[in-house]
Amino acid sequence: MRKRKVIIDCDPGIDDSLAIMLALQSSEMEVVGITIVCGNAPVEMGFENAKKVLQQMGRLDIPVYIGADKPIKREYVNALDTHGPDGLGESFLPDVAGYHQEMCAAEFLSHTLKQDKISIIALGPMTNLAELIKVDKEAFLQIDELVSMGGSYKSHGNCSPVAEYNYWCDPDAAALVYETMYAAGKQIHMVGLDVTREIVLTPTILEYMCRLNQEIGMFVRKITKFYFDFHWQWEHIIGCVINDPLAVAYFLDKSICDGFDSFVQVETQGISMGQTVVDAMNFYRKKANAKVLTKTDTKRFFELFFSRVLEIDVEQLDILQDIV
Ligand code: BDR
Ligand code: CA
Repeated sequence: MRKRKVIIDCDPGIDDSLAIMLALQSSEMEVVGITIVCGNAPVEMGFENAKKVLQQMGRLDIPVYIGADKPIKREYVNALDTHGPDGLGESFLPDVAGYHQEMCAAEFLSHTLKQDKISIIALGPMTNLAELIKVDKEAFLQIDELVSMGGSYKSHGNCSPVAEYNYWCDPDAAALVYETMYAAGKQIHMVGLDVTREIVLTPTILEYMCRLNQEIGMFVRKITKFYFDFHWQWEHIIGCVINDPLAVAYFLDKSICDGFDSFVQVETQGISMGQTVVDAMNFYRKKANAKVLTKTDTKRFFELFFSRVLEIDVEQLDILQDIV
Protein backbone atom coordinates (compact mmCIF):
# COMPACT_ATOMS: atom_id res chain seq x y z
CA MET A 1 0.00 0.00 0.00
CA ARG A 2 1.31 3.44 -0.93
CA LYS A 3 1.67 5.65 2.13
CA ARG A 4 -0.17 8.94 1.99
CA LYS A 5 2.20 11.86 2.45
CA VAL A 6 1.25 14.37 5.09
CA ILE A 7 2.48 17.61 6.57
CA ILE A 8 1.35 18.31 10.12
CA ASP A 9 0.89 22.01 10.76
CA CYS A 10 0.62 22.47 14.51
CA ASP A 11 1.20 24.41 17.72
CA PRO A 12 2.41 21.84 20.26
CA GLY A 13 0.69 21.95 22.67
CA ILE A 14 -0.34 18.91 24.66
CA ASP A 15 -2.97 17.45 22.35
CA ASP A 16 -0.91 18.35 19.26
CA SER A 17 1.84 16.17 20.73
CA LEU A 18 -0.55 13.24 21.11
CA ALA A 19 -1.66 13.78 17.51
CA ILE A 20 1.94 13.74 16.27
CA MET A 21 2.51 10.50 18.19
CA LEU A 22 -0.51 8.89 16.55
CA ALA A 23 0.58 10.04 13.09
CA LEU A 24 4.12 8.72 13.53
CA GLN A 25 2.82 5.32 14.59
CA SER A 26 0.47 4.97 11.62
CA SER A 27 1.97 3.06 8.72
CA GLU A 28 -0.63 4.32 6.22
CA MET A 29 0.92 7.76 6.29
CA GLU A 30 4.33 9.31 5.93
CA VAL A 31 4.91 12.53 7.83
CA VAL A 32 7.14 14.46 5.42
CA GLY A 33 7.46 17.44 7.71
CA ILE A 34 6.05 19.32 10.66
CA THR A 35 5.41 23.04 10.41
CA ILE A 36 4.96 25.09 13.54
CA VAL A 37 2.64 28.02 14.01
CA CYS A 38 2.17 30.29 17.01
CA GLY A 39 -0.91 29.20 18.89
CA ASN A 40 -1.00 27.33 22.15
CA ALA A 41 2.65 28.25 22.55
CA PRO A 42 4.84 30.91 20.94
CA VAL A 43 6.32 29.51 17.75
CA GLU A 44 9.87 28.95 19.08
CA MET A 45 8.48 27.07 22.07
CA GLY A 46 6.23 25.00 19.79
CA PHE A 47 9.31 24.16 17.73
CA GLU A 48 11.16 22.94 20.83
CA ASN A 49 8.14 20.92 21.91
CA ALA A 50 7.79 19.23 18.52
CA LYS A 51 11.42 18.12 18.77
CA LYS A 52 10.80 16.76 22.28
CA VAL A 53 7.95 14.62 20.96
CA LEU A 54 10.05 13.43 18.02
CA GLN A 55 12.82 12.53 20.43
CA GLN A 56 10.41 10.52 22.57
CA MET A 57 9.24 8.67 19.48
CA GLY A 58 12.76 8.16 18.13
CA ARG A 59 11.90 10.14 14.97
CA LEU A 60 14.33 13.04 14.91
CA ASP A 61 14.71 12.34 11.19
CA ILE A 62 11.51 14.28 10.51
CA PRO A 63 12.10 17.92 9.55
CA VAL A 64 10.44 20.65 11.58
CA TYR A 65 9.98 24.16 10.24
CA ILE A 66 9.26 27.35 12.14
CA GLY A 67 6.32 29.35 10.82
CA ALA A 68 4.34 32.42 11.75
CA ASP A 69 5.05 34.10 15.08
CA LYS A 70 1.85 36.14 15.06
CA PRO A 71 -1.59 36.08 13.43
CA ILE A 72 -1.95 37.82 10.07
CA LYS A 73 -3.83 40.84 11.46
CA ARG A 74 -4.65 40.50 15.14
CA GLU A 75 -2.53 40.54 18.23
CA TYR A 76 -1.31 37.11 19.28
CA VAL A 77 -2.89 35.47 22.35
CA ASN A 78 -1.27 32.19 23.39
CA ALA A 79 -2.96 29.38 25.34
CA LEU A 80 -0.25 28.69 27.90
CA ASP A 81 -2.92 28.94 30.58
CA THR A 82 -4.28 25.68 29.12
CA HIS A 83 -1.03 24.00 28.04
CA GLY A 84 1.33 25.06 30.83
CA PRO A 85 4.19 27.57 30.96
CA ASP A 86 6.36 25.34 28.72
CA GLY A 87 3.43 24.54 26.39
CA LEU A 88 3.81 20.88 27.29
CA GLY A 89 1.95 20.65 30.56
CA GLU A 90 4.79 21.76 32.87
CA SER A 91 6.73 18.63 31.93
CA PHE A 92 9.86 20.77 31.44
CA LEU A 93 11.50 18.13 29.29
CA PRO A 94 15.01 19.08 28.17
CA ASP A 95 15.43 20.85 24.82
CA VAL A 96 16.66 18.78 21.92
CA ALA A 97 19.64 20.17 20.01
CA GLY A 98 20.06 20.22 16.26
CA TYR A 99 17.74 21.15 13.41
CA HIS A 100 19.12 23.88 11.21
CA GLN A 101 16.41 26.01 9.63
CA GLU A 102 17.20 26.20 5.92
CA MET A 103 13.74 27.58 5.24
CA CYS A 104 10.66 28.80 7.03
CA ALA A 105 7.35 26.93 7.13
CA ALA A 106 5.76 28.82 4.22
CA GLU A 107 8.83 28.19 2.03
CA PHE A 108 8.82 24.50 2.92
CA LEU A 109 5.09 24.25 2.16
CA SER A 110 5.44 26.10 -1.11
CA HIS A 111 8.37 23.95 -2.20
CA THR A 112 7.03 20.57 -1.05
CA LEU A 113 3.39 20.77 -2.04
CA LYS A 114 4.34 21.18 -5.68
CA GLN A 115 6.49 18.08 -5.70
CA ASP A 116 4.00 15.42 -4.78
CA LYS A 117 0.47 14.60 -3.68
CA ILE A 118 0.52 15.83 -0.09
CA SER A 119 -2.20 16.37 2.50
CA ILE A 120 -2.18 18.73 5.43
CA ILE A 121 -3.50 18.08 8.89
CA ALA A 122 -3.79 21.52 10.49
CA LEU A 123 -3.91 21.37 14.28
CA GLY A 124 -3.36 25.01 15.17
CA PRO A 125 -4.36 28.47 13.96
CA MET A 126 -4.21 28.54 10.16
CA THR A 127 -1.70 31.40 9.91
CA ASN A 128 0.94 29.36 8.06
CA LEU A 129 -1.65 28.32 5.50
CA ALA A 130 -2.86 31.89 5.08
CA GLU A 131 0.73 33.01 4.51
CA LEU A 132 1.14 30.27 1.94
CA ILE A 133 -1.99 31.50 0.13
CA LYS A 134 -0.47 34.97 0.03
CA VAL A 135 2.93 33.92 -1.29
CA ASP A 136 2.04 30.88 -3.39
CA LYS A 137 -1.64 30.21 -3.89
CA GLU A 138 -0.89 27.65 -6.56
CA ALA A 139 0.97 25.50 -4.02
CA PHE A 140 -1.87 25.86 -1.50
CA LEU A 141 -4.37 24.66 -4.09
CA GLN A 142 -2.31 21.55 -4.66
CA ILE A 143 -2.99 20.28 -1.14
CA ASP A 144 -4.47 16.84 -1.61
CA GLU A 145 -6.69 16.81 1.48
CA LEU A 146 -6.97 19.48 4.16
CA VAL A 147 -8.13 18.32 7.57
CA SER A 148 -8.43 21.09 10.14
CA MET A 149 -9.05 20.79 13.86
CA GLY A 150 -11.01 23.93 14.49
CA GLY A 151 -14.37 25.63 14.65
CA SER A 152 -17.65 24.30 15.93
CA TYR A 153 -21.15 23.88 14.62
CA LYS A 154 -23.55 23.40 17.55
CA SER A 155 -21.12 22.94 20.40
CA HIS A 156 -20.25 26.06 22.38
CA GLY A 157 -16.85 27.69 21.96
CA ASN A 158 -13.82 27.30 24.19
CA CYS A 159 -12.57 30.89 23.89
CA SER A 160 -15.83 32.75 23.70
CA PRO A 161 -19.45 31.57 23.74
CA VAL A 162 -19.14 30.78 20.04
CA ALA A 163 -15.49 30.50 19.04
CA GLU A 164 -12.99 27.66 19.16
CA TYR A 165 -9.35 28.60 19.93
CA ASN A 166 -7.59 27.82 16.61
CA TYR A 167 -9.98 29.96 14.58
CA TRP A 168 -10.39 32.58 17.31
CA CYS A 169 -6.61 33.05 17.58
CA ASP A 170 -6.31 33.94 13.90
CA PRO A 171 -9.80 34.43 12.48
CA ASP A 172 -8.51 36.27 9.41
CA ALA A 173 -6.31 33.33 8.48
CA ALA A 174 -9.13 30.84 8.96
CA ALA A 175 -11.50 33.04 6.95
CA LEU A 176 -8.98 33.31 4.11
CA VAL A 177 -8.46 29.54 4.01
CA TYR A 178 -12.21 28.84 3.87
CA GLU A 179 -12.75 31.56 1.24
CA THR A 180 -9.90 30.27 -0.90
CA MET A 181 -11.18 26.71 -0.71
CA TYR A 182 -14.63 27.96 -1.66
CA ALA A 183 -13.33 29.88 -4.67
CA ALA A 184 -11.46 26.77 -5.83
CA GLY A 185 -14.48 24.50 -5.36
CA LYS A 186 -12.63 22.45 -2.73
CA GLN A 187 -13.56 21.26 0.75
CA ILE A 188 -11.94 21.40 4.16
CA HIS A 189 -12.64 18.61 6.62
CA MET A 190 -13.69 20.53 9.72
CA VAL A 191 -12.98 18.50 12.83
CA GLY A 192 -14.50 20.91 15.32
CA LEU A 193 -15.50 20.90 18.96
CA ASP A 194 -18.75 19.03 18.19
CA VAL A 195 -16.70 15.89 17.72
CA THR A 196 -13.51 16.53 19.67
CA ARG A 197 -15.45 17.10 22.90
CA GLU A 198 -16.36 13.40 22.66
CA ILE A 199 -12.70 12.49 23.10
CA VAL A 200 -12.01 12.77 26.81
CA LEU A 201 -8.89 11.22 28.27
CA THR A 202 -10.02 10.24 31.76
CA PRO A 203 -7.80 9.18 34.68
CA THR A 204 -8.99 5.60 34.17
CA ILE A 205 -8.11 5.59 30.48
CA LEU A 206 -4.72 7.11 31.29
CA GLU A 207 -4.10 4.50 33.98
CA TYR A 208 -4.97 1.78 31.45
CA MET A 209 -2.45 3.30 29.02
CA CYS A 210 0.26 3.12 31.70
CA ARG A 211 -0.57 -0.52 32.41
CA LEU A 212 -0.33 -1.42 28.73
CA ASN A 213 2.80 0.51 27.86
CA GLN A 214 4.58 2.04 30.79
CA GLU A 215 7.03 4.23 28.89
CA ILE A 216 4.47 5.86 26.61
CA GLY A 217 1.83 5.94 29.34
CA MET A 218 4.16 7.79 31.70
CA PHE A 219 5.09 10.27 28.97
CA VAL A 220 1.40 10.97 28.32
CA ARG A 221 0.80 11.27 32.07
CA LYS A 222 3.63 13.78 32.39
CA ILE A 223 2.40 16.06 29.61
CA THR A 224 -1.32 15.86 30.47
CA LYS A 225 -1.27 16.50 34.24
CA PHE A 226 -1.56 20.28 33.82
CA TYR A 227 -4.30 19.80 31.20
CA PHE A 228 -6.32 17.66 33.65
CA ASP A 229 -6.08 20.41 36.27
CA PHE A 230 -7.12 23.06 33.75
CA HIS A 231 -10.19 21.06 32.71
CA TRP A 232 -11.23 20.53 36.30
CA GLN A 233 -10.85 24.22 37.10
CA TRP A 234 -12.59 25.64 34.04
CA GLU A 235 -14.89 22.96 32.69
CA HIS A 236 -15.49 20.82 35.77
CA ILE A 237 -14.48 17.71 33.90
CA ILE A 238 -12.39 14.92 35.44
CA GLY A 239 -10.14 14.28 32.48
CA CYS A 240 -9.13 16.33 29.47
CA VAL A 241 -10.46 16.81 25.97
CA ILE A 242 -7.77 15.77 23.51
CA ASN A 243 -8.88 17.49 20.33
CA ASP A 244 -6.05 17.12 17.86
CA PRO A 245 -5.51 13.34 17.69
CA LEU A 246 -9.08 12.98 16.41
CA ALA A 247 -8.10 14.94 13.28
CA VAL A 248 -5.33 12.42 12.63
CA ALA A 249 -7.62 9.47 13.37
CA TYR A 250 -10.20 10.88 10.97
CA PHE A 251 -7.55 11.36 8.30
CA LEU A 252 -6.64 7.68 8.70
CA ASP A 253 -10.18 6.39 8.82
CA LYS A 254 -12.99 8.61 7.57
CA SER A 255 -15.63 6.31 9.05
CA ILE A 256 -14.59 7.36 12.56
CA CYS A 257 -16.55 10.62 12.15
CA ASP A 258 -19.74 11.50 10.41
CA GLY A 259 -21.07 14.85 9.24
CA PHE A 260 -22.44 16.84 6.36
CA ASP A 261 -21.26 19.10 3.56
CA SER A 262 -21.89 22.80 4.00
CA PHE A 263 -20.77 26.28 3.14
CA VAL A 264 -18.83 27.67 6.10
CA GLN A 265 -17.68 31.21 6.73
CA VAL A 266 -15.46 32.35 9.58
CA GLU A 267 -16.42 35.59 11.34
CA THR A 268 -13.45 37.93 11.80
CA GLN A 269 -14.97 40.77 13.84
CA GLY A 270 -16.87 41.64 16.99
CA ILE A 271 -18.26 39.41 19.69
CA SER A 272 -18.50 36.38 17.44
CA MET A 273 -14.93 36.67 16.14
CA GLY A 274 -13.64 33.21 15.18
CA GLN A 275 -17.08 31.64 14.97
CA THR A 276 -17.71 29.20 12.16
CA VAL A 277 -21.03 30.16 10.60
CA VAL A 278 -22.24 26.87 9.15
CA ASP A 279 -24.96 27.29 6.53
CA ALA A 280 -26.56 23.92 7.29
CA MET A 281 -29.91 25.01 5.79
CA ASN A 282 -28.28 26.36 2.64
CA PHE A 283 -29.65 29.91 3.00
CA TYR A 284 -26.81 31.32 0.90
CA ARG A 285 -27.15 28.79 -1.92
CA LYS A 286 -23.39 28.49 -1.97
CA LYS A 287 -21.42 25.38 -2.79
CA ALA A 288 -20.09 23.51 0.24
CA ASN A 289 -16.50 24.40 1.10
CA ALA A 290 -16.45 22.14 4.15
CA LYS A 291 -17.32 18.75 5.47
CA VAL A 292 -18.55 19.55 8.97
CA LEU A 293 -18.07 16.61 11.33
CA THR A 294 -20.77 16.24 13.95
CA LYS A 295 -20.51 12.67 15.27
CA THR A 296 -17.72 10.39 16.25
CA ASP A 297 -17.25 6.94 17.68
CA THR A 298 -15.27 7.42 20.89
CA LYS A 299 -14.55 3.75 21.41
CA ARG A 300 -13.19 3.31 17.91
CA PHE A 301 -11.03 6.39 18.34
CA PHE A 302 -9.44 4.98 21.49
CA GLU A 303 -9.01 1.57 19.87
CA LEU A 304 -7.10 3.20 17.04
CA PHE A 305 -5.13 5.47 19.35
CA PHE A 306 -4.18 2.70 21.80
CA SER A 307 -3.33 0.12 19.20
CA ARG A 308 -1.05 2.51 17.33
CA VAL A 309 0.52 4.59 20.07
CA LEU A 310 0.87 1.78 22.62
CA GLU A 311 1.53 -0.88 19.98
CA ILE A 312 -1.11 -3.27 21.32
CA ASP A 313 -3.46 -5.46 19.24
CA VAL A 314 -7.08 -4.28 19.35
CA GLU A 315 -8.12 -7.79 20.53
CA GLN A 316 -6.01 -7.30 23.63
CA LEU A 317 -7.82 -4.12 24.66
CA ASP A 318 -10.28 -6.21 26.64
CA ILE A 319 -11.48 -3.61 29.15
CA LEU A 320 -11.47 -0.57 26.85
CA GLN A 321 -15.18 -0.87 26.09
CA ASP A 322 -15.98 -0.63 29.80
CA ILE A 323 -13.99 2.53 30.41
CA VAL A 324 -14.68 4.82 27.43
C1 BDR B 1 -7.52 23.52 19.83
O1 BDR B 1 -6.86 24.59 20.49
C2 BDR B 1 -5.72 24.13 21.16
O2 BDR B 1 -5.73 24.47 22.50
C3 BDR B 1 -5.65 22.64 20.97
O3 BDR B 1 -4.33 22.25 20.72
C4 BDR B 1 -6.55 22.36 19.80
O4 BDR B 1 -5.85 22.40 18.58
C5 BDR B 1 -8.82 23.22 20.53
O5 BDR B 1 -9.63 24.36 20.55
CA1 CA C 1 -3.44 22.44 18.50
